[in-house]
Amino acid sequence: MTTQQFTFEYTSFSDISELTPADQQLLSAARKVTEQAYAPYSNFFVGAVIHLENGETVKGTNQENASFPVGICAERTALSAASSLYPGVAIDTIAVSYNNHNGGKNDAPISPCGICRQTITEYENRQHSPIRIIMSGQSGKVYILQTAKHLLPFGFTAEDME
Ligand code: THU
Repeated sequence: MTTQQFTFEYTSFSDISELTPADQQLLSAARKVTEQAYAPYSNFFVGAVIHLENGETVKGTNQENASFPVGICAERTALSAASSLYPGVAIDTIAVSYNNHNGGKNDAPISPCGICRQTITEYENRQHSPIRIIMSGQSGKVYILQTAKHLLPFGFTAEDME
């Protein structure tokens, strides 16, 4: 018997000003696009902006539904849009932010939900290159991860079906 460990590194920044200009632009866009979310049920407005290898950016927001499970997260909205608008173009970064209209905190990094982690990992596997993830609220700390795989240890992939 052996005890194994899964560890990963991420970078923590005290605020957006510590990021590269390109990452600052992407995170600012993610913060702003939260205004376009459709979140009348949770009042939790999420924005995701993708930067593609060809220099284009694609935005997404959460889209809720009166039938709650039908709603879709901002990350998956953005990923589907990017893949539809620019098929075959690799994604290098996705920035995610939120605006909590429930009176709660807005200054802590957001972390993608389990379904979104699975989805981002699928896109990484498809394009054979990692997708960086920038996570932040409307202000305050920013976390950057170098790959979605770090968010999903023991994730199920196509390889498991070989
Ligand atoms: N949500 C996202 O869009 N992305 C996340 O990473 C976490 C949660 C949405 C789903 C739902 O519309 C609302 O936030 C509250 O869960």
